[in-house]
Amino acid sequence: MTHKNITLTMIKPLAVQKGFIGPILAKVNEAGFRIVAMKQMKLTVDQAKDFYAIHKERPFYNDLVAFMTSGPIVAAILEKENAVEAYRELIGSTNPAQATDGTVRKLYGTSIEANAVHGSDSDDNAVIESAFFFSKLERF
Ligand code: CMP
Repeated sequence: MTHKNITLTMIKPLAVQKGFIGPILAKVNEAGFRIVAMKQMKLTVDQAKDFYAIHKERPFYNDLVAFMTSGPIVAAILEKENAVEAYRELIGSTNPAQATDGTVRKLYGTSIEANAVHGSDSDDNAVIESAFFFSKLERF
C-alpha cells in the first residue's frame, strides 16, 4: 500500500483578503493533494504566538504574529505522498521575490511575511501543526 503523508497549510490573511483562496486551492488540487480537513478562522494573538513559538526569538516574531491575526486565514491538512516536500515545491521559497515562476508564493505572495501560504517544514511538524487546528472528528 502506498504510504500517504500529510502537511499543514494556512492561506495567510492578505491572500484571503485579496480573493486568492480559490486560485490557491485550485493549484493544490491540480498538484494532486487530497484535502483531509479545512476551515476558515481568525487566529487570536495567543494562538498565533503558540503556532509560531518556534520563531519566538526571531526579530520578525511580533510582526508575524500581528500579521497572522490581522484577518481570517484558511487552515487545511493536505495529503499526498511526500506531502511536506511536494507542498514546499508547489509553494516555492519563503520570500516570494526568490520563488520560482509558477509557484504559489510567486503568484500570490506579496512579501516575505505576507507570503500567501504557510507549509509545514517536516513530517513531525506537520503532525503537530495539524493537531493544533483539527481534531480527529474534523478529518476525512
Ligand atoms: P511560514 O512558512 O509561515 O513560517 C514562518 C514565517 O515567518 C514564514 O512563513 C515567513 O512569513 C516569516 N518569515 C521568515 N523569515 C522572515 C524574515 N526574515 N522576515 C519576516 N518574516 C519572515
